[in-house]
Amino acid sequence: MIYLDNAATSLHKPPQVIEAVVEAMQSLGNAARGAHENSLQASRVIYGARCKLAELFGFSHPERVIFTANATESLNLALNGLFSPGDHVITTDLEHNSVLRPLYRLEDAGMISLDIVPADTLGNPDYAAFASLMRPNTRAIVTTHGSNLTGNLVDLHRVSAIAKSHGALLVVDASQTAGALPIPMEETGIDVLCFTGHKGLMGPQGTGGLCVAPGVDLRPWKVGGSGVHSYSRTQPEDYPTRLEAGTLNGHGIAGLSAAVDFLLETGVETIARRESALTRRFYQAVKQIPGVTVYGDFSQPQRCAIVSVNVGQEDSGRIADALMEDYGIAVRPGAHCAPRMHQALGTQHQGAVRFSFGWYTTEAEIDAAITALQELAAE
Ligand code: ALA
Repeated sequence: MIYLDNAATSLHKPPQVIEAVVEAMQSLGNAARGAHENSLQASRVIYGARCKLAELFGFSHPERVIFTANATESLNLALNGLFSPGDHVITTDLEHNSVLRPLYRLEDAGMISLDIVPADTLGNPDYAAFASLMRPNTRAIVTTHGSNLTGNLVDLHRVSAIAKSHGALLVVDASQTAGALPIPMEETGIDVLCFTGHKGLMGPQGTGGLCVAPGVDLRPWKVGGSGVHSYSRTQPEDYPTRLEAGTLNGHGIAGLSAAVDFLLETGVETIARRESALTRRFYQAVKQIPGVTVYGDFSQPQRCAIVSVNVGQEDSGRIADALMEDYGIAVRPGAHCAPRMHQALGTQHQGAVRFSFGWYTTEAEIDAAITALQELAAE
């Protein structure tokens, strides 16, 4: 089987990730819930993971690296914890439902007003609109770093400058880029960075988190057991406990920690270069296949390792099925939980066939996918 669905989850992980999870399952107690060796070891592993993620993201506050189950939970913590009645929020057409649905719910509840920066047919946001939509009560711009459908990147430096010049915060969904591209959080001026552990970071599913810059205080969205201040009626104020009610996924975080070790040793720039070369190889070939439409802006110097296509008017699900059944190639068709991006591209009925590459993808696999697409398009 050829796995080209890394934007959904990275199937192949560094072996040390799997070893770390197995070891953690045999040895970790419950972090911050005891003074015995197994509990202390869990606390050490989890704190170590905070430090490594802070290093990876150019963030100098490991205690403000919060663990969650996935990017959706991170975004819910951020968006439900940040806004107050009367706030105005700006987001984009590029977003995944993990951004859109929490914002729509806040809008429907009358908590916030919401404006959405449109995307053009290449899938890029209208940068002028970020500034023109700003209002005195704009609290934040919430944007993805990279589209999970087109692979286009949003220029975060540019959006950050607009947000800062209007006194607004920048909340970033890095689901598609964490681990795959450098994200220097402080240098870029990101106030809240939300990530998942199981994609480019190459950790286990059920891991994720957010980095919350100093000066940004999120109200706890979930409250409960914290292991400290047990007689207080309210969630402890200090980070990270403030946002981490309940037992953490220590086993998964141990795996994520080993994955970040691998990324730091290998270098995210090295990973980005390799994935970029694979993406270019695929794109250059498939854009020439008669009947194949490629979506996204490939003039960008840097992008996610994603190439979404359609073959004529064929339903994207049918092409994905043929790729799996006839060629053993795994991709993701359909709507990708990105409804507005599909609408902007005009693919809301057909969907799109998304090929997404990762560190373990080989050139031979890319070439096999090119051949498969050539044959399917010729049929
Ligand atoms: N959000 C993931 C994707 O794009 C699951 O496939």
